[in-house]
Amino acid sequence: MSFAELRLSIATQSLDLVMQHTIKQSLSLADAKAFPLGESPLSFIKQQKIETLYIHIPFCHTLCRFCSFHKIKYNEQKAKLYFAALRKEIRRVIEGGLRFNRVYIGGGTTTILEDELVKTIELIKSLTTVREVSCETDPSYFKTGNPEVLNGLVDRMSIGLQSFDDNILKASGRYEKFGSGDEQAIHIQRGIELFPTVNVDLMYGFKGQTPSSVVTDIKRMMQLEPDQITTYPLTVGIGKSRKKSQCLAGSPKDLWPQFLAVKEVMAERYLMEFPWTYSRNFGQKVENKYVLDGENCFGVGSGAFGRFGEQFQISSFNIDKYIQLIELGGVGTNYHNLLSSKSIDQHHLMIMMGKGHLDNGLFKAHTGKSLWQAFPLELTYLLAAGALIKQGNDYRTTESGQFIALKMFSGFLAGMDYLREQAIDLAA
Ligand SMILES: C[S@@+](CC[C@H](N)C(=O)[O-])C[C@H]1O[C@@H](n2cnc3c(N)ncnc32)[C@H](O)[C@@H]1O
Ligand code: SF4
Repeated sequence: MSFAELRLSIATQSLDLVMQHTIKQSLSLADAKAFPLGESPLSFIKQQKIETLYIHIPFCHTLCRFCSFHKIKYNEQKAKLYFAALRKEIRRVIEGGLRFNRVYIGGGTTTILEDELVKTIELIKSLTTVREVSCETDPSYFKTGNPEVLNGLVDRMSIGLQSFDDNILKASGRYEKFGSGDEQAIHIQRGIELFPTVNVDLMYGFKGQTPSSVVTDIKRMMQLEPDQITTYPLTVGIGKSRKKSQCLAGSPKDLWPQFLAVKEVMAERYLMEFPWTYSRNFGQKVENKYVLDGENCFGVGSGAFGRFGEQFQISSFNIDKYIQLIELGGVGTNYHNLLSSKSIDQHHLMIMMGKGHLDNGLFKAHTGKSLWQAFPLELTYLLAAGALIKQGNDYRTTESGQFIALKMFSGFLAGMDYLREQAIDLAA
């Protein structure tokens, strides 16, 4: 092991420990407060102009072993009641004054009841002038569904494949429902032909994966030419969900060579936007926005979060309770919590590190602080770890720094898992 590798290995191991501690401290919902009865979170959103409305669909046909997103096994009757409540909530927040530019529909499986999804997007389009609708789904939808009905309604489709490797698909519980890697490639191809922008999710860091098997996955995906490829490091949460995903995970030390292999092979035809997101570097370029400030967003549905500045909002994670809240004339958001300015700054740091440039001027304009005022310990650690190099007033991320940003992103995903677990307890 070279000195640089040893330094990176020590840095990432200590980062893992620090992150676990920070997540538990800064993302605790112990002080979350319920909105008092009769006091609606709608008062927050009056005439607010936010970037994104997030809509959560918490149903799946199959429950994958690595996934701790909020979802339950599909039940048609409940899902229909849910979509009806969701549309009531959407109408309520728009009539309450909420304005947004984009809609992101995430899951779960958003396409599980196609007609209901169509009605929901049509409702939004009839009430607003949104610029972009993004939606998540899995490859089997392009075999069993009728995705043409979403033409003109969904601008960006994000398809989760995870891997073409049948052993990984079997181990994670996806093979049976979604088919083999070869079959899923055909379905993804159909999706790519149908939608203006298509992203495909891959994951690495599974037990048994090697740099060369990860490259095989990426090459195969690149042949299909999606607009974007997201490469998630398999994240093992820090809470109760840890056990199931832990058995699928490889050794943490295997992630660095896999990251380098992903980066190298992607560079042939894709541009790294972040160490976990790549956009195609051929044909028509993909429009990507980069907002340092994070962005205010509002979540509707059961299992959604929202944020206005330091106010963090949590919807009910109990689907029956959610439907009840809507029937009583409210919205799904029923708890709120204050985010510490430290955790918001740390999110900025992750985004800047991922983007490759820590811009002192931009950071100061957003936060009123210089990078050194906000991150004295972090910058000392990152410089010592060889993750950053100074350039004038700013810092550039090195390759090790990109990897540290990827680890920070994985910590962010683990933080979201931790929030979801606490939100389930709040709803109980
Ligand atoms: C929550 S899923 C929703 C999309 C769709 N249901 C599917 O299965 O593809 C969105 C993405 O989250 C990512 N994901 C889920 N669990 C993860 C984990 N433990 N670590 C990293 N990424 C994860 C997967 O790449 C997945 O495609
Ligand atoms: S990965 Fe997708 S299909 Fe699998 S459980 Fe999570 S949301 Fe459902």
